[in-house]
Amino acid sequence: MKHLISIESLQKDQIQNILDRAKYYRDAMIDGKWDRKKLEGKIVLTLFFENSTRTLTSFDIAAKRLGADVVNWNAEVSSLKKDETFSDTIDTLSAMEPDAIVIRHHEYGAPDFVSKRVNCPVINAGDSWREHPTQALLDAVTILQEKETLEGLTVSICGDVAHSRVANSNAKLLTTMGANVRFVAPEMLMPQKLPAKGIECFDTLEDGIKDADIVMMLRIQKERMDRSEIPDDAAYFNKYGLTPERLKHAKPDAFILHPGPANRGVEISDEVMDDPTRSMMKRQVANGVPTRMAVLDMLMEN
Ligand code: NCD
Repeated sequence: MKHLISIESLQKDQIQNILDRAKYYRDAMIDGKWDRKKLEGKIVLTLFFENSTRTLTSFDIAAKRLGADVVNWNAEVSSLKKDETFSDTIDTLSAMEPDAIVIRHHEYGAPDFVSKRVNCPVINAGDSWREHPTQALLDAVTILQEKETLEGLTVSICGDVAHSRVANSNAKLLTTMGANVRFVAPEMLMPQKLPAKGIECFDTLEDGIKDADIVMMLRIQKERMDRSEIPDDAAYFNKYGLTPERLKHAKPDAFILHPGPANRGVEISDEVMDDPTRSMMKRQVANGVPTRMAVLDMLMEN
């Protein structure tokens, strides 16, 4: 593995290796014992062309936990504002020889494009609605804290599936690992083309989460929609908001994932989001660090 651009490009055993390494780092961090100098002397360059709270900070902390230095490049104060082209910007940054690049970009395929121009590993931290591989990996790490295997689990991915790179990467990872994936969305938020074979589609939350082991909720990605397409928050919550009452349709021990940021009272109620026995959101965030340590370590070890 030279870069991490997509889940689609990974084989089952490669996914398993990353999950195993992430678990190793999670356990090692609990014991306080891991090689804090593993990436000493190396520089990780983060290039975020879109807003981020969790992913950017998580990569930053993961790299520093392994002893790397991190340079957070900021699109807002860069020469892109002086009409430099994207490819010239990438060539310029590449000439400074970073040891890895972590990129988030609103354009489809931007991380792949960058990986073909530079001499270091490139990690996709989210491109358009296409893929967000480390999110799917950390979600799997979180599921595996509660369940022995992904194989045979029913995972319902609910909400604005059409605009979600998180849904895409998760659907690919989960189906590859043998889980049953369902997409649950109103027609206008359901993708026209499904990212993997075997995905079942539902247009009501009650049917879509029936007997599910895991319910993954997604925010409505208003920034990727025309104004006229954006549903009314209250009407949406009425039909698709996850409430304690609706959650009763899932298995009694089903738990909730959400990549964040969550919109309370739109796709999820306060009660469900704040229920520590059902909501795994904080755990997902915590698991993001060892998962990204695993990815950085595996790509940068040479
Ligand atoms: C997501 C993203 O940016 O793709 N968040 C994340 O990385 N945890 C989902 C979103 O923006 O809704």
